[in-house]
Amino acid sequence: RRTAVLVSGRGSNMAALIEAARDPAYPAEIVLVLSNRPDAGGLERAAAAGIATAVVDHKAHPSRESFEDAMQAALEAHVVELVCLAGFMRILTAGFIARWEDRLINIHPSLLPAFRGLHTHERALAEGVRLHGCTVHFVVPELDAGPIIAQGAVPVFDDDSADVLGARVLQVEHALYPLGLALVASGRARRDGLRVRVDGAKP
Ligand code: GRF
Repeated sequence: RRTAVLVSGRGSNMAALIEAARDPAYPAEIVLVLSNRPDAGGLERAAAAGIATAVVDHKAHPSRESFEDAMQAALEAHVVELVCLAGFMRILTAGFIARWEDRLINIHPSLLPAFRGLHTHERALAEGVRLHGCTVHFVVPELDAGPIIAQGAVPVFDDDSADVLGARVLQVEHALYPLGLALVASGRARRDGLRVRVDGAKP
C-alpha cells in the first residue's frame, strides 16, 4: 500500500518505517514524507533515503481546514492510500480524520489508555508505574483515543529519568511502528468497533 508519513520533528520513527519498507516483502511502500514544519529534521533524513518530501506549513494557512486541504492535495498527488503520523504535532480536524478513516494511524509514547497527551514519560515516572511503553493506534477525533493495533512495553527502573525512560521506549517504538503498519497494510489488523482484530493472533 502506498503510504505517507507525516512528521513535525526529527523523524526517527519515520526512518524506522522507511528502513522496514525497503524490504520488497514489506506490505507498505513509503511514497511521501510530509512535514508541517520546513525545518523538521525528518525531511532531510527522508530525502537522503530517496523518499519524496513535501512541506505544508501550517503558519502559511489562515485556517486548519485550508492547511488540511493543502495536505490532502499533496497526499492525493502522490496517490497515498495509508497515512502514518510520526511525531506530527498538529491536531487534525474530525473532517480530515473521517476522510482517512481506518487508513490513518499514529504512534503514541505510552501504554494507552494511560497517559494520553504530552509529557508521557514524566507522568509515568510521577505515577510510579512499573511498566511503560508505546502504542500504535488508529486515529479518531478524540486525541490518543483510537482503537489499539499494537503495543510494546518496557520496565521502569527506580533511577530512571524521563530522558532515560523515553529513550528506552523510543527503541521499542522503532520496532513497533513497522509492525503496526505492516498489520494494517496487509489487512491483518482490522477495526471492529472500538477494538482491532488481528488475524492469526491469539487473544
Ligand atoms: C515519538 O516519541 C512518538 O511516539 C511521538 O513523538 C515522538 C516522535 O519522535 N508521537 P520521532 O520524530 O519519530 O523521532
